[in-house]
Amino acid sequence: MLVNFNEMLNLAKKDKYAVPHFNINNLEWAKYVLEKMQEENLPVILGVSEGAKKYMGGFYTIRCMVEGLIKDLNITIPVCLHLDHGSSFESCKEAIDAGFSSVMIDASKYDLETNKKITKEVVDYAHSKGVSVEAEVGHVGGAEDNVYGDVFRATLEDCIEISKTGIDALAPALGSVHGIYKGEPNLDFDRMKQIDETLSIPLVLHGGTGIPYDMIKKAISCGISKININTELQVTWHKDVLEFIKENPNIYDPRKVIGSGEVSIKNKINELIDIFNPNHISSKN
Ligand code: 13P
Repeated sequence: MLVNFNEMLNLAKKDKYAVPHFNINNLEWAKYVLEKMQEENLPVILGVSEGAKKYMGGFYTIRCMVEGLIKDLNITIPVCLHLDHGSSFESCKEAIDAGFSSVMIDASKYDLETNKKITKEVVDYAHSKGVSVEAEVGHVGGAEDNVYGDVFRATLEDCIEISKTGIDALAPALGSVHGIYKGEPNLDFDRMKQIDETLSIPLVLHGGTGIPYDMIKKAISCGISKININTELQVTWHKDVLEFIKENPNIYDPRKVIGSGEVSIKNKINELIDIFNPNHISSKN
């Protein structure tokens, strides 16, 4: 069964670790992430962008695919199926009606009042169905589904205002970008801490790819409870697939070609969750 992210994120906030949000692109991505997280016995959020939804066919197909994998693979960990960067009320409603357990409404391109209005509309609908809601203020920069944007840092006042809509988690843009960083990320940890100390809801860090691990640990200590990873798994998968094709130019079975990136995806997840959730390492030792 799919769950919303409230329980997993509130526990993470209390015990100061982060739950990973991994974007999925296809059946293999979902399968590898679920298998690895089950092996580690940790909750996971599967993020689906609107571009990935289009690629895979639609929200209903994705919900059935993920629920099918949960059943067939005997997945018992909490799994949250989350719309990533929903661009409108209609898109969030479509995901909710198809059975997603969580949505992000990203109205950060609008002025604060409009962002609040659209976010509130999503919160009212989502909560009536038991679905959790994440919102964004300021603007996370970089490329998402090939759409480029600049960084606009969130202010504490904007965070307080948007939290009044009743959202369950907030992604305040504080310098992170989607995709590969040009140079060192410049995150505003002081403001992150201030927002965390002011609001009671969990905070989300977008653009998790390429943030040095000491910065990730610092972000978690400043209140981040959910970290979004997309590009990093794609890059590690691509590297191994390229190598496989170079070494095996005559193998055309897509299961072998796509599957040649499985081990590196799982190894990268392992590496990341040891950083996101050090408590977990100690429980393994
Ligand atoms: P990256 O692609 O930089 O990992 O960002 C993912 C993300 O924030 C999805 O919302």
